Amino acid sequence: MNIHANVLNTTAADSFLDNIRKDVLKITGDALKDSSIHSIASCYATQDPATKRMLTAAITYAEESLQKYNVLIEGPSGTGKELVARILSHKRKPLKAMNMAGLTDTLFQSELFGYMPGAFTGAKSRGDVGFLRAVGKGTAFLDEIGELPLAHQAKLLRVLQDKTVLPVGAVDPVPIQCRFVFATNRDLLKMVKEGSFREDLYFRINELGLKTFSLQQRGVQEIRCVASAIIAEENWTPIGEREHFSDETFSFGNVRALRNLLLKRELGEIELPEYDKGE
Ligand SMILES: Nc1ncnc2c1ncn2[C@@H]1O[C@H](COP(=O)(O)OP(=O)(O)OP(=O)(O)O)[C@@H](O)[C@H]1O
Ligand SMILES: [Mg+2]
Repeated sequence: MNIHANVLNTTAADSFLDNIRKDVLKITGDALKDSSIHSIASCYATQDPATKRMLTAAITYAEESLQKYNVLIEGPSGTGKELVARILSHKRKPLKAMNMAGLTDTLFQSELFGYMPGAFTGAKSRGDVGFLRAVGKGTAFLDEIGELPLAHQAKLLRVLQDKTVLPVGAVDPVPIQCRFVFATNRDLLKMVKEGSFREDLYFRINELGLKTFSLQQRGVQEIRCVASAIIAEENWTPIGEREHFSDETFSFGNVRALRNLLLKRELGEIELPEYDKGE
């Protein structure tokens, strides 16, 4: 079923999405009974209800019967999109990532789709299978998908629709078997409205969608929770009951920045403010 022409207005699109929802509902219960999955998701420290719901959805989307659907993970930089991609791929290994930013036209095609022997100057003599075939039946994680130029977007759409690639210099397309996961820190819907991201591609990559939130959006308690997880992992000094993360000490909302702050604290370069200090 081609839902990607005028997808916003068609009833075909609605029924396609209904089918996805039914598929999701059917398996959610079983997926959540499997406790091994929870340990996979436990690498993502959180106490925020919306983030817990997102992780539950990621666990569900990792299930066999939903692997035919493409997943888009949207969220600010450093908020764990790659961790979510790992949860999604735990049954579909290997997970291989490729960054879509800064790919020239030739690189985009040869790196993703591969090339035939002698396809261009400097090519390997035996050719190359390219990223998407090298992933095999695993998960292809195309990161920073919002950076993909329009010309490449059309080519990627064709690949997603046909589940084949045309290696550079080849005559016949070759089937691919990977699962696709995409991530972006851009507002793709806004880019669609502005004309810099194809609407049909947006709906194709976003058959199932997940959103990560900044630490600030998740609240002060969340900063403490994630900080404790990082400290436990690194074996650093636990956070005292009185220490806290004021807006001045932590204004980034980004887990990488939080880790850097905690490292400085561990090295004694900074101190976190304390409640009721001096009492
Ligand atoms: N909730 C969390 N609990 C523990 N560690 C986390 C959490 N979220 C992110 N991290 C850690 O923060 C770092 C950044 O996470 P990750 O690379 O997944 O973010 P990202 O959203 O892909 O960032 P970018 O947009 O910059 O690519 C990683 O080291 C990751 O392990
Ligand atoms: Mg990332």
